[in-house]
Amino acid sequence: MSNPLSKDVQKHAAAEHALRFLTPGEVVGVGSGSTVGFFIAALSKRAVDFPKAVSSSERSSGLLRSAGIQVLDLNDAGPIGVYVDGADEVDPNLALIKGGGGALTREKIIAQASRRFVCIVDESKQVPVLGTFPLPVEVIPMARSLVARELAAIGATVIERAGFVTDNGNVILDAARLRITDPLALEAQINQWPGVVTVGLFARRRPDVLLVAGPGGVAETVV
Ligand code: A5P
Repeated sequence: MSNPLSKDVQKHAAAEHALRFLTPGEVVGVGSGSTVGFFIAALSKRAVDFPKAVSSSERSSGLLRSAGIQVLDLNDAGPIGVYVDGADEVDPNLALIKGGGGALTREKIIAQASRRFVCIVDESKQVPVLGTFPLPVEVIPMARSLVARELAAIGATVIERAGFVTDNGNVILDAARLRITDPLALEAQINQWPGVVTVGLFARRRPDVLLVAGPGGVAETVV
């Protein structure tokens, strides 16, 4: 089991490695979370090559601007070449749970708008089956109880994320104790429920590149 310090070293290594997949001059798609924090730090040293980005959260936008990188509205940026983001869990088929930071909706939008999705994780994020990490679901506030009941009906223990409002003004329900053996089917099922904005399963739009940092370095899987 890795300690937090070595986890940060691994996140840093994966983030630095992701720079290899970028093309200078192109607008960079930037995700959210602590691993992406290391990526933004790496990007800031190359701001001359990568002066423009689109961002999946207000937090990442702030970090990018502080690094001297211009943050564009996705609507003005056109198709994005590469999107770099972390994950909370990765299964052997590269399906993900995301949204631990609550930015899942904008993350899914930018992942979809990008030609290539590069996912950067430390090795602790790899799991045989998704679901140990509670599945985040962004919900319109008036549908909170309705969607919580639907999640309970499929076997989840549901916890509303206390005091948390997403960048889109919604709430997050965290659905614990699901064993997600068919992420594609579950993503489609939950996405259909009225009131659900986004489920934090990334099975339909999986990464095209997975970078997993461990004690021995960074392992690349390119699909
Ligand atoms: C943010 O909403 C998430 O999807 C992050 O990508 C995910 O939570 C991973 O975050 P860390 O890099 O902080 O582990």
